Amino acid sequence: MNAPAAQKRRLIVAITGATGAIYGVRLLETLRRLGGMETHLLVSSTGWLNIQHELDLDKPAVLVLADVVHSVRDVGASIASGSFATDGMVVAPCSMRTLANVAHGLSDNLITRAADIVLKERRRLVLLVRETPLNLAHLRNMTAVTEMGGVIFPPLPAFYQKPQTIDEMVDHTVERVIDLFGLAQPVARAWQGMRGETE
Ligand SMILES: Cc1cc2nc3c(=O)[nH]c(=O)nc-3n(C[C@H](O)[C@H](O)[C@H](O)COP(=O)(O)O)c2cc1C
Repeated sequence: MNAPAAQKRRLIVAITGATGAIYGVRLLETLRRLGGMETHLLVSSTGWLNIQHELDLDKPAVLVLADVVHSVRDVGASIASGSFATDGMVVAPCSMRTLANVAHGLSDNLITRAADIVLKERRRLVLLVRETPLNLAHLRNMTAVTEMGGVIFPPLPAFYQKPQTIDEMVDHTVERVIDLFGLAQPVARAWQGMRGETE
């Protein structure tokens, strides 16, 4: 009997209008460099605004980083159906608006519809939520997504890694996110303990 063909690995990446567009762009760049994952990109209108404002990148420079690009209005796209197999979805960065709509199952565009599908199919949903300080609605929405199986992953720097640049901080977060999807080798540098520094 022939072994079943290995399922194609696919990841949906959405960039929404919270500050931190660099996280979504770096995620796409890193996945492209590592290979082995077909990326499906979605960018909200405020996501595009922040990409331009924060990174000085135009649309074509970002679109080439993904294998497939979807319009957020195209709710008939492949990723709008659970029958289209994916490993899951990362929203990087994730605005409080998109968080709220995911938390309440409001599939009002292809980003929130794709997230809804990922949750209902029990696939991995990772939200790089970004706002500060947080109000009770934000906290409750994060709790709701966690209760549904999603991962709330605020992109917070790990100072114990002694990052020297913003790029190093961003890379560490992006690598930790990628490791949540179990690529063959862990990507993020693992903490080795303080090796007696506290003694
Ligand atoms: C420069 C800029 C920075 C923003 N930063 C944040 C943020 O950090 N977190 C957040 O929740 N919303 C932020 N917003 C507001 C969102 O972009 C806004 O709520 C938008 O409606 C989100 O829509 P989306 O989720 O479809 O991208 C920011 C907006 C702008 C213009």
